[in-house]
Amino acid sequence: MTNTTLKTGQPYYRCPLCKQPLSLNDKVYRCDNNHCFDQAKQGYVNLLPVQFKHSKEPGDNKAMVTARRAFLEKGFYQPLVNAMLKLYQQYAPASAVVFDAGCGEGFYTHQHKNDDNQVYGVDISKETVKIAAQKYKTCFFSVGTLSELPFQDEQFSWVFSVYAPILEQEFNRVLAKEGYLLTVTPGAEHLLALKSLIYQQAKHHDESKQVIQEMTLVKEEQLTYEMTFNNSEDVLNLLAMTPFAFKASKEVVEQLTKLTTFSCQADFILRLYQK
Ligand SMILES: C[S@@+](CC[C@H](N)C(=O)[O-])C[C@H]1O[C@@H](n2cnc3c(N)ncnc32)[C@H](O)[C@@H]1O
Ligand SMILES: [Zn+2]
Repeated sequence: MTNTTLKTGQPYYRCPLCKQPLSLNDKVYRCDNNHCFDQAKQGYVNLLPVQFKHSKEPGDNKAMVTARRAFLEKGFYQPLVNAMLKLYQQYAPASAVVFDAGCGEGFYTHQHKNDDNQVYGVDISKETVKIAAQKYKTCFFSVGTLSELPFQDEQFSWVFSVYAPILEQEFNRVLAKEGYLLTVTPGAEHLLALKSLIYQQAKHHDESKQVIQEMTLVKEEQLTYEMTFNNSEDVLNLLAMTPFAFKASKEVVEQLTKLTTFSCQADFILRLYQK
């Protein structure tokens, strides 16, 4: 299936309702049972039926996504992308079919795209996917849930997840035999200086392994470096993209607004598994 898909250049999805393949004609994805999903003008497709939604607007909201894009585009996490791409180049097969699980606004997704591969991103937040698809036209984006992915079994040779929920069973299902899963999770020191401004006793991240039982751990790396911010906007964007943003008091936000320089640690754990 993988090679056919690459040849046609068409994205390959399965129907979230009946699990039959979807084909794209005149900007409509349709399965044999006539379930239809329109391609949005930005190019993405919404494959999250209402009955799969647990809230009206699931996932990250527009403010978080805008802050994340502004922060990421300044390159503060580029060392992470470089480390991810190094593993990709070392282990992924040529003409890989790649999946970014919980892709957000597509920062990591699009940096995996090259002339020979196909790259998909799925996120449950429609606003986020819209922003991703608008900018990165060479990747295939869809709104969907990681707990029931709109893909057929063994479709991907490379799946990755950056700071998003890891659903081992589904990731395992969509991975081809001997395919790879790369997870990026926070290391113990990640953003500790920022957290210390918010919590009296900021806790280190728990680095203990997410149990991936059905795959083999091939490689584990830690990437740690110091980031220095010379304006408050970058720090406020960083805060806005974290889950502890809503815990920050007005006083802390004011304090951050007045900062002229601030340093904190980026600390990532990369784990590469093989099916
Ligand atoms: C911390 S963000 C990371 C986004 C992106 N990977 C990045 O690092 O820039 C987590 C993302 O996971 C998405 N997400 C959370 N639960 C999800 C689910 N069940 N299915 C799909 N996406 C989900 C959120 O909407 C959000 O965009
Ligand atoms: Zn269907």
